[in-house]
Amino acid sequence: MNLKIFESYQSLSEYTAEEILKQIESKPDSVICLAAGDTPRLAYQILARKLNEKKTDLSKCSIIGLDEWVGIPPDNEGSCQYFLRNELLNLVNISASQVHLFNALSDDLARECRIMNELIKARNGLDLMIVGVGMNGHIGFNEPGVSFDIYSHVIDLDNTTQSVGQKYFKTKTSLNKGITLGLKHLTESRKAILIANGSKKSNVIKAIVEGPIDSGLPATVMKTHHNGWVVIDKEAANSLI
Ligand code: F6R
Repeated sequence: MNLKIFESYQSLSEYTAEEILKQIESKPDSVICLAAGDTPRLAYQILARKLNEKKTDLSKCSIIGLDEWVGIPPDNEGSCQYFLRNELLNLVNISASQVHLFNALSDDLARECRIMNELIKARNGLDLMIVGVGMNGHIGFNEPGVSFDIYSHVIDLDNTTQSVGQKYFKTKTSLNKGITLGLKHLTESRKAILIANGSKKSNVIKAIVEGPIDSGLPATVMKTHHNGWVVIDKEAANSLI
């Protein structure tokens, strides 16, 4: 696992945007998985601006949404889908057929998982994943204790995810389950970048970087990745030895 520490959230976000841009420029038919959440917000804003300035051809790439809150409609501003569309996808020249997001309102979520797994397989796997990390060490909705060896699945959200997740919603929202790509998607991806910023993430970053690989802290799966990068700002690094 590689570790990169930036001076600021701004420079971390510029780097992340540049990595996504480089991926698309070097392989126009890239399959890229993107997380929602506060961490990548600035990177996506920078990326959207650069893609438009450079008139980058997005017609061959595929964008996959990492996860979604089960039962939350896409027009709810707290949904992952709403975030990805508003912070990036609606701002750039990409067609709906290239964007693949879980339908978390489906009455057959197992089918949603199968569709996503088959789609990723049919496209020969993920070229790049941009993920964040939760306060409990989750990646996507791969909650503590999850197997590193599974693909898309539906999972009960732990108490931390249910309470921290309220920050995305205007009113108190019941968040019980998530639908998510699995950690096997992550380990099989050709490149994975985990980003984190701010001192609130410093303890979880310390545990990932300095602790053992442990399913109780799912983000330690990054240590098993052949091309895994943990990219953080100085504040998120401030508990590291
Ligand atoms: C969201 C997602 C989550 C977040 C994580 C960190 O799509 O996959 O795992 O990446 O909870 O969230 P923020 O970035 O808001 O701190």
